[in-house]
Amino acid sequence: MLLRVLAFSAITSTTFTLTSAQLTPSPTYSPPPAASGTQASTASPNAQWSNVLGNSLWFYDAQRSGHLDGGTYPNRVDWRNDSALEDGSDFNLDLTGGWYDAGDYIKATFPLSFTLFALSWGALTHGGGYDLAQQTAYLDGTLRWGYDWLIKAHPSDDTLFVQVGSSDIDNAYWGGDEDIPTPRPAYPVNSSHPGTDAWSSAAAAFAIGSMLYTPSISYNTTSSSSPPTSPSIGNSTYASSLLSHAKALYATANNTSPQQTYYESLGESVAAYASSNWQDDLTLSALSLAIATNDSAYYADAYNYYTSYALSGMRQVWNWDSAIPAIYVLFAEIATARPGLAEGAGLSSNLTGWQKEAENYFDGIVDGSWKRGYLTRGGLWYVDGDSDEASLNPAMALAMLMFKYAPLASSDDKRESYIKFGQSQLDYLMGKNPMNAVYLVGSHPNSPQNPHSAPASGGNDILHIRTSPPTEAHVLYGAMVGGPLSDDRFWDWRDDWVQSEVALDYNAMIPTLAAMQLLNNTADPYYVNVQAGTYSAPSGDPCDAAFPCGGGGLSAGAKAGIAIGVIFGVLLLVAAVCFWKRRTLSAWWRKGYRR
Ligand SMILES: *[C@@H]1O[C@H](CO)[C@@H](O)[C@H](O)[C@H]1NC(C)=O
Ligand SMILES: *[C@@H]1O[C@H](CO)[C@@H](O)[C@H](O)[C@H]1NC(C)=O
Ligand SMILES: *[C@@H]1O[C@H](CO)[C@@H](O)[C@H](O)[C@H]1NC(C)=O
Ligand SMILES: *[C@@H]1O[C@H](CO)[C@@H](O)[C@H](O)[C@H]1NC(C)=O
Ligand SMILES: *[C@@H]1O[C@H](CO)[C@@H](O)[C@H](O)[C@H]1NC(C)=O
Ligand SMILES: *[C@@H]1O[C@H](CO)[C@@H](O)[C@H](O)[C@H]1NC(C)=O
Ligand SMILES: *[C@@H]1O[C@H](CO)[C@@H](O)[C@H](O)[C@H]1NC(C)=O
Ligand SMILES: *[C@@H]1O[C@H](CO)[C@@H](O)[C@H](O)[C@H]1NC(C)=O
Repeated sequence: MLLRVLAFSAITSTTFTLTSAQLTPSPTYSPPPAASGTQASTASPNAQWSNVLGNSLWFYDAQRSGHLDGGTYPNRVDWRNDSALEDGSDFNLDLTGGWYDAGDYIKATFPLSFTLFALSWGALTHGGGYDLAQQTAYLDGTLRWGYDWLIKAHPSDDTLFVQVGSSDIDNAYWGGDEDIPTPRPAYPVNSSHPGTDAWSSAAAAFAIGSMLYTPSISYNTTSSSSPPTSPSIGNSTYASSLLSHAKALYATANNTSPQQTYYESLGESVAAYASSNWQDDLTLSALSLAIATNDSAYYADAYNYYTSYALSGMRQVWNWDSAIPAIYVLFAEIATARPGLAEGAGLSSNLTGWQKEAENYFDGIVDGSWKRGYLTRGGLWYVDGDSDEASLNPAMALAMLMFKYAPLASSDDKRESYIKFGQSQLDYLMGKNPMNAVYLVGSHPNSPQNPHSAPASGGNDILHIRTSPPTEAHVLYGAMVGGPLSDDRFWDWRDDWVQSEVALDYNAMIPTLAAMQLLNNTADPYYVNVQAGTYSAPSGDPCDAAFPCGGGGLSAGAKAGIAIGVIFGVLLLVAAVCFWKRRTLSAWWRKGYRR
């Protein structure tokens, strides 16, 4: 029923210690009431964008598992409790901590790695925005909360825990964080059960994280005399710890055969995030290791995999299942910031070639030639098959890539077209849409009131998720919900997980997008212009995976009957035509096809 599912087991843990963050938030930040979202900022840096940044990090605090005060700055979410304190006990390990993946209580490593990669990669080039918003200590605390758990989940070179909690058990539960059902089994990959995708994506996240924590790192990806900056969180101890995990995971992924996905090794229990392949992840991890180590051997691997896996010219969205668009942009960044890496591998840094690759991807989106992806009438970039269960996700990932790439564009026209397109997607999120909805919870009176989150809802009746309780118990500030349907309509219903669920990876672009806006000192987020009270849920029922179409019409059996009848009729017609035209057809077969 839920898009994402996770469950857990239990251990008696006395050894739980998280490294403390080096930075102490000053001033401390708590989300302001949603009503303040109608007030234009008069401050510089922009106070509303600072709130977007602050709230989108606060969301990660609300997703915490384990001892809430176990590490960095103290827990800020007073309605959460310590939970899942025995995770890892089935392996005599401490796997407590980390974050719940979505609106329920599974911990999932693959989308977590994507999330940490996206947050760190964004901060690497636009971290100065965190400094402006006085959110750098919260960035440090958020990243450490995630990476510290990923470190625990990687207890030896080849062992990586990819999930804690059972989807079957967790899917049958809707309630608070005090009665999370057990057992919560932990699922490892290892050399006898390889997970090339999981190892690689964790390696990529660790590698970019280690760069971000390297003191005074220089990563100049623009031709500007004032290139974007990383935030001031440098710590060489932490950077080298992250790097050692990255190297070990990459070596395991690169050298363990057979190379296959963790789903192929572990099966249905980890089906919530079954990735389609591992080749993109392995390539991204090699590339990330290349910049983190400044070692051309990794670059040689990345380039070799990019060519041998034929990753060029692919039209995919950027998400936990597809790293390819990020690979294009990262190659272009490296050609600018670290041209020596390619040269050290006997290759050309080829900025022009990487620009061509990235721009071929972006231009196909901007000019509409990519048919599977198109703009909805209201202006949201929608990709059939990828946007159907969380429509804002591909659009925000694209916006982040476009803003990130823009300084590297081969012409001013292209640069402006990417910025304009990215901005249009961000504006849509922030309320410039036919629903007048602001799709970040708690930012504006028109924000969703009913995100699909068991802990925030206060409900415990799985049969009446929408109505019990009538009002969501807690405001899940800063959470981006799944988003509207392809006709731009949005039902703010707690049980419509397609539209209202929240997740670590959904939110992963928001802090970077806010940091980018802060750095550019732009106008207020669009929502300050949105009149309060102008959102209302459409009439009738939605039509999505949570509420399959035609709920009040024909039964599934009747529809299947009609479909079978139609298919049979069409086949009959084709057979008849073939019979009449058999001479022509056999002539065509001889002449054309078998030549
Ligand atoms: C750097 O990080 C390490 C490891 O997390 C931590 O123990 C140390 O206190 C940090 N150093 C400073 C100066 O904060
Ligand atoms: C945390 O514990 C309190 C007190 O038992 C309970 O009322 C509250 O619902 C719990 N929070 C969640 C998110 O379940
Ligand atoms: C290796 O992974 C498999 C599959 O998750 C698991 O059953 C097994 O216990 C693991 N082996 C070790 C030594 O942890
Ligand atoms: C960043 O790199 C470009 C060339 O790649 C250079 O022109 C520019 O001056 C650099 N900026 C800084 C601050 O080093
Ligand atoms: C990765 O594996 C390939 C193929 O086995 C090998 O040629 C390459 O040297 C390995 N990369 C590293 C960095 O060890
Ligand atoms: C990377 O290595 C090259 C060649 O060994 C060196 O010239 C360059 O300064 C290094 N860059 C960084 C950022 O360490
Ligand atoms: C540079 O990239 C282009 C296209 O992206 C490619 O055709 C060309 O072979 C590359 N050149 C070198 C020297 O790698
Ligand atoms: C930054 O602001 C300038 C001036 O308003 C604008 O031209 C440019 O497109 C903006 N860049 C981004 C990344 O938004």
